[in-house]
Amino acid sequence: MNTLVEDAQAAGASVGLTAERITVRGGRPLKGRIELKGAKNLVTKAMVASLLGETPSELRSVPEISDVRVVKGLLEVHGVKVTSVGADTILLDPSNVESAHFEVIDAYAGSSRIPILFCGPLLHRLGEAFIPDLGGCRIGDRPIDFHLEGLRRFGAVVDKQPQGIRLTAPNGLKGAKIELPYPSVGATEQVLLTAVRAEGTTELRGAAVEPEIMDLINILQKMGAIISVDTDRVIRIEGVERLEGFSHTALFDRNEAASWAAAALATEGDIFVGGARQSEMLTFLNVFRKVGGAFEINDNGIRFYHPGGKLKPVIIETDVHPGFMTDWQQPLVVALTKAEGVSIVHETVYEQRFGFTDALVDMGAHIQLHRECLGGAECRFGQRNFNHSAVIVGPTDLHAADVVVPDLRGGFSHLIAALSAEGSSTVSNVGIIARGYENFIAKLRALGADFVLEA
Ligand code: EPZ
Repeated sequence: MNTLVEDAQAAGASVGLTAERITVRGGRPLKGRIELKGAKNLVTKAMVASLLGETPSELRSVPEISDVRVVKGLLEVHGVKVTSVGADTILLDPSNVESAHFEVIDAYAGSSRIPILFCGPLLHRLGEAFIPDLGGCRIGDRPIDFHLEGLRRFGAVVDKQPQGIRLTAPNGLKGAKIELPYPSVGATEQVLLTAVRAEGTTELRGAAVEPEIMDLINILQKMGAIISVDTDRVIRIEGVERLEGFSHTALFDRNEAASWAAAALATEGDIFVGGARQSEMLTFLNVFRKVGGAFEINDNGIRFYHPGGKLKPVIIETDVHPGFMTDWQQPLVVALTKAEGVSIVHETVYEQRFGFTDALVDMGAHIQLHRECLGGAECRFGQRNFNHSAVIVGPTDLHAADVVVPDLRGGFSHLIAALSAEGSSTVSNVGIIARGYENFIAKLRALGADFVLEA
């Protein structure tokens, strides 16, 4: 069995999704209402932040996804008591944080990217940390050099071992001046989670400022941290000696919102996404409108729909916030195959995030990948050998095919493609989608999708 299949099965099984394949009879518009919960890319980090508190934390709007299960498991092996209360609230009690045995931690190797964020909190609590090999979507090299360099600046000693990384802080952690070569989301969170309890002041330049990071800052401030966000990607953190637990409702999942919006467009449907908010999705909404999609914003969510007529091509460059998120392009590309004309998507965040387009081509899409930076600006990948620009020529009526989910967002785009294609498509490895989309099977049913699950 290849690791992709194993990953998918493990991810799906951990949230009760036992099917490995879905057979979709496409060609029906998705119509109805779904509700979002907290963002995968905030909730998992908020759970790690609970390690820094001297008292228990309460986190609300926690989705049932396998990435949350992984972080819960890793917290538990470090002595944090995680209890569910009601449908989507968890209590995290870090009163007895303890070192975990290597073998126990190693069982989490390859399961998620989040373990790297345990470094700072564990160094503060225990003076040492062991981080297994990381997992996450295979969409590029995904190095952790910014994380390790940042931790060294705080005074951590990093020892790379065959199975993972061992960190110690023989002289404690001290505030530092750090400049990121690229506004990495994870490295910014690493610095935040380490600096809040380091001695003295930390100045982070070149920080990422995604809404999920701002919500993590909200949480840390609730815990007692002192953090200011200046203009030009500068974040200053004054270390404090003690942090308390937090009580917080997680920011909604704007990546999931964008995914369902794209599904509405590609299937000529009409989906009300409860919990979606305008301000964190401004850039997406502009592009959605330019492509020919329509939306209505109200206090409880956003209705995304295909208003009829032809879809229009666009030129998109993915970027860090406030740009067009890399996580939004995969579902939207499916809708772009139906736009009349030539669209260009230049992926500037991850060097290999177009693997999912092979399956779309199998379904009849006209997509060509290019190594050059198309669409305007030069990016970090321009002089290197990565197919990181896509040219999509439409409109195409996709036809059914058997496709294999490669990664989380690519997998969701395959689902949308199958739902919009005439005929019966089989989408395999769907467990991977359960890493980040809560109850997507139930949501598809609620939206009138026609499919059967296969073990
Ligand atoms: C987060 O990944 C998200 N994951 C990703 O979501 C998201 O696509 C990404 O941010 C960008 O918004 C989580 O929050 C769990 P980065 P992260 O560090 O933090 C390079 C999804 O589908 N880099 O901002 O790992 C890196 O290779 C996912 O939900 C280094 O070179 O992303 C990439 O090119 C997938 N060295 C760029 O920076 C480092 O040490 C941005 O990565 C760190 C990053």
